Amino acid sequence: MKILLTTSPGLEDFVETEIKEHNIKITSIEKKPFNTKGLILITTDSGLNLISKKLLKLRSIYFILELLHIFKISDTNPLNDIRSNFYDIDFKKLEKARSFRVTTSRTGLHSFISRDVQIEAGSVIVQRYGLNVELKNPEIIVRANIYDKLCVAGFQINREDLSNRNKAFTMKTSLKGSIAYAMIKLACITNTRQVNILDPFCGTGTILLEAAFSHPNAVIYGSDAFEKPYQVAIKNIENKKLRTRVHIQQCDAAELTKHFERNFFCTIISNLPFGAQLSKKADLRILYARFLKESYEILEPGACMVILILKKHILFELLKTSKKFSIEREINIKMGPLKPSIFKIRKA
Ligand SMILES: C[S@@+](CC[C@H](N)C(=O)[O-])C[C@H]1O[C@@H](n2cnc3c(N)ncnc32)[C@H](O)[C@@H]1O
Repeated sequence: MKILLTTSPGLEDFVETEIKEHNIKITSIEKKPFNTKGLILITTDSGLNLISKKLLKLRSIYFILELLHIFKISDTNPLNDIRSNFYDIDFKKLEKARSFRVTTSRTGLHSFISRDVQIEAGSVIVQRYGLNVELKNPEIIVRANIYDKLCVAGFQINREDLSNRNKAFTMKTSLKGSIAYAMIKLACITNTRQVNILDPFCGTGTILLEAAFSHPNAVIYGSDAFEKPYQVAIKNIENKKLRTRVHIQQCDAAELTKHFERNFFCTIISNLPFGAQLSKKADLRILYARFLKESYEILEPGACMVILILKKHILFELLKTSKKFSIEREINIKMGPLKPSIFKIRKA
């Protein structure tokens, strides 16, 4: 059986490692199949129920798709190719279902849009199985994904994006849980002693929640300068009953030494503001400079920091002049249309 997993482009290695850590029995793994970043194709001899149960626990992925058929689509009549192939695929699960929906992810340039694929594939399914199309809450989600000249057909196993599982409350700026998971992994936090972890731009608390679940012995601190995200983070932490181990306060990341002791944190993991909330371009540089200076003081000697940043040239310039941190790792990822980078930097 072939299963396709989705993640953020750039995080494929984290998925492979997590599969190994969970001892999930697979016979092969291919990262970026169909020349597409953000995908992992695995094959397994295990039954669907067993493997799904294990895969649903992974924190680095968004969706799990059971693959049924992969076929080429032509330039001349791609929708016709989709139609004729959908007549031949054995969608056994649909025989006993009442409703379905076709969902499409599409990469590449095409003469059609995703909706055309859904209509074409969906009408064949209605004709073959006599099911109702239910867009909002279908019993089964059929996937017809297009990767350039290939169509990948199958069933979507999970309804909700797995990376949202921790948060009851979100905002537009909320980070995906899977990216937070990868950042926490990158920080290599020890479990052999009790450690303090900080996210000083915690927003709605995504990193705090992921850190609390990944490191049950750690004490987690979060702060944000603004009232709204601070209140949302509190609600998310309370919702997961983590108030005793996750401490949140409202404070400016440019003034961390006013609120935290020196040499207190084993790591800082944070998704820095990209600049949308700040008025002038120069403000971002000043904020980052002060945040780095303050972080240096509150981190243990030799500690590392993992930060997600969009304008990485600012970081390069600041590190070059301050010489307080050295870059250990850079991972370029994709978040919708944005291409930020995750940096692991170590206190000199
Ligand atoms: C990219 S968002 C972080 C999103 C967060 N990871 C989440 O999942 O919700 C950046 C956050 O930095 C906060 N922020 C902006 N300037 C700040 C400052 N000077 N000090 C502390 N927080 C600040 C914003 O309120 C925003 O919540």
